[in-house]
Amino acid sequence: MKTEKRKDLHLKTAMKKESQFRKTSLFEEIELIHNPLLDCELTEIKTQTTFLGKKFSFPLCIRPITGGTKKSFELNKNIALACEKKGIGFALGSMRAGLENKSKIEFFKLRKYCPSIFLEANIGALELAKHSAKKIDDFAEEIQADAVSVHLNSAQELMQNSKTKGFSEVFNSIKNFAEQSNFPVIVKEVGNGISFETAKKLDSTKINAIDVAGRGGTSFVKIDSILHGKKRLGEVFGEFGIPTAASVLFTKKASKKKIIASGGIRNGLDVCKSLVLGADLAGIAVPAIRNAGNEKSVENLLDSFKEELVISMFLIGARNTEELKHKKFVLQDNLREWINA
Ligand SMILES: Cc1cc2nc3c(=O)[nH]c(=O)nc-3n(C[C@H](O)[C@H](O)[C@H](O)COP(=O)(O)O)c2cc1C
Repeated sequence: MKTEKRKDLHLKTAMKKESQFRKTSLFEEIELIHNPLLDCELTEIKTQTTFLGKKFSFPLCIRPITGGTKKSFELNKNIALACEKKGIGFALGSMRAGLENKSKIEFFKLRKYCPSIFLEANIGALELAKHSAKKIDDFAEEIQADAVSVHLNSAQELMQNSKTKGFSEVFNSIKNFAEQSNFPVIVKEVGNGISFETAKKLDSTKINAIDVAGRGGTSFVKIDSILHGKKRLGEVFGEFGIPTAASVLFTKKASKKKIIASGGIRNGLDVCKSLVLGADLAGIAVPAIRNAGNEKSVENLLDSFKEELVISMFLIGARNTEELKHKKFVLQDNLREWINA
């Protein structure tokens, strides 16, 4: 299937309920501790943060979804404009189409719509091995990105083609790229989560951040098994993965890198819990693309996330994002079993 057609079908399928995990991120198994005697007003809560040198008005970032087609340009434009207005970060989808066909790079040039915010370029780990660090850097420079994220997606790849090769080269490609690139490097999953072992391995490299992209939101295995007619594989592996909450805790324990919590983040309370667990930012993908037909809808979505985050911070007595990191939390049984695995 051609890259462009596959991308459009990915988007179409992501809009459907079947694209989502039935199993959860386990954020519901984290309880925050209510603090009813407060020494500040709601309006005094400060949500600002800094990530890889860029300012965020609150700790949320749109994760990579799409890029390289006319349709994706229009959707990304609405997201970019809304992110600029609300002061949060934005990631473009995989640069593959732009690397394969130079004329498609125009569809990735979104910087003019979001001149001040954190902008991330993205590439698949198997693709990374096929190109020099300079070629990737040149692309990121041309679209004026602030960082490059590399996605690990073994489960998804196997739904597309179970004979895919090159997985054993991935770690070295990432390690070499992080040594040679002039951009900060983020390694991310696409919905199956980062384990303790993977985070530990990544910690030994020069990458800057890990986006856990865990289980609980969008299941790329489900999406690709539907698109490629792999019904049985989809049924067997569609719910496979590490719940996002467990993946953040694994990554925090195994590594000193910055952390993005994503995969099933669906409201501002989830964002608050992400930071209490030790993440630096939270991220969303499908909620953004489902609203991307119109800039105002994305703005409204981001306003809701921010309002819910502010209320959550207020209720646990965290006046700013730094204080959030020192708040205690209670873990319930299933999540505790995960982290003791
Ligand atoms: C249609 C679609 C396309 C995606 N494309 C990419 C991509 O190009 N690169 C990437 O790193 N992740 C990609 N992702 C994964 C997301 O960045 C994210 O990790 C995942 O959807 C989980 O977040 P969510 O539960 O908020 O949707 C894509 C997701 C969707 C739904």
